[in-house]
Amino acid sequence: MKKILITGANGQLGRSLMNTLSGKYQVMGTKIENEPIANPGMPLIQMDITNRTEVEAGVNLFKPDIIINTAAFTNVDRSEIDQDLAWSVNVGGIENLIRASDSDTKFIHISSDYVFDGENGPYRESDEVNPTSYYGKSKLWGEQKLLDSERKYLILRPNVLYQTTTHDQASFFAWVYTSLLNKKQIKVVTDQTSNPTWVHPFTEVLLRSIDSDLCGLFHYGSADYISRFDFAQLIANIFNLDSSLIAPIITADLNQAAPRPKHSGLISDKIQNKLDVEVLTVEQCLLQIKRLWERVSD
Ligand SMILES: NC(=O)c1ccc[n+]([C@@H]2O[C@H](COP(=O)([O-])OP(=O)(O)OC[C@H]3O[C@@H](n4cnc5c(N)ncnc54)[C@H](OP(=O)(O)O)[C@@H]3O)[C@@H](O)[C@H]2O)c1
Repeated sequence: MKKILITGANGQLGRSLMNTLSGKYQVMGTKIENEPIANPGMPLIQMDITNRTEVEAGVNLFKPDIIINTAAFTNVDRSEIDQDLAWSVNVGGIENLIRASDSDTKFIHISSDYVFDGENGPYRESDEVNPTSYYGKSKLWGEQKLLDSERKYLILRPNVLYQTTTHDQASFFAWVYTSLLNKKQIKVVTDQTSNPTWVHPFTEVLLRSIDSDLCGLFHYGSADYISRFDFAQLIANIFNLDSSLIAPIITADLNQAAPRPKHSGLISDKIQNKLDVEVLTVEQCLLQIKRLWERVSD
């Protein structure tokens, strides 16, 4: 049975991968010291990917055939301010993992649509990259480290990633849902377009990629492109929350530390043709989440 090391096992994508891959592959997740264990019973080792010694110890102990690197510093505005930290996780982390592993270890690395400037998306894999934020730059440099290593690789780029759960800090869906549930007024931008990636089908894409030993660079998002404002409205409508709490705003008025891609989105044709995976609309994804929650509460 192939051995797969999953970094960031407490994160949105990491948790889903731990659950989905564990029956089929021998998986080991990594967590940072003192972090809560989100998947009780799942095998986890302590590993801060910025710590070379810890990475070497963990990789040597488990000897993975495949490393899936979902760990990242995902706070876009903080990355602009604390650039050293963003670099050490998003670039130095992958460098440490490459250095610590055998040369025949395959890398599956999760990147982002923020490698594009968002002037004229949606984007294909062949489109020119031009990150405008430090977070986007660090994600691109992370990709480059992997390409330079000449390791066997798969790089997957999702956008506006969200879990089925509502407590994840890196999830726009969770932020909108919990704010509206708590009757909190929110301002949401009308001028940023994307095709959000629900973790559930994305994990299926990853599973099929591993099964078929897919290599290369691929994008994956939903079937339709919507603004953050329309996404928030859809969340309110589907989960019967008060949409009047969502006020429209434009990106410039938010005065955020990091610039954001406005016309983003990732065209999924290449991976859809390779793996014959389903690409759902945003509405279909949200309705599936609702049905999953209803089933659990039955
Ligand atoms: N969220 C999005 O909207 C989005 C969009 C496009 C691409 N992506 C990419 O998709 C991937 C998964 O994102 P996600 O949404 O699942 O992020 P997430 O929920 O923030 O999870 C990231 C994980 O990385 C861990 N981590 C952070 N620093 C680390 C370090 N130094 N050593 C080891 N682990 C560390 C975090 O640990 P803690 O739990 O301690 O923080 C967390 O478990 C990332 O590569 C991200 O860049 C995300």
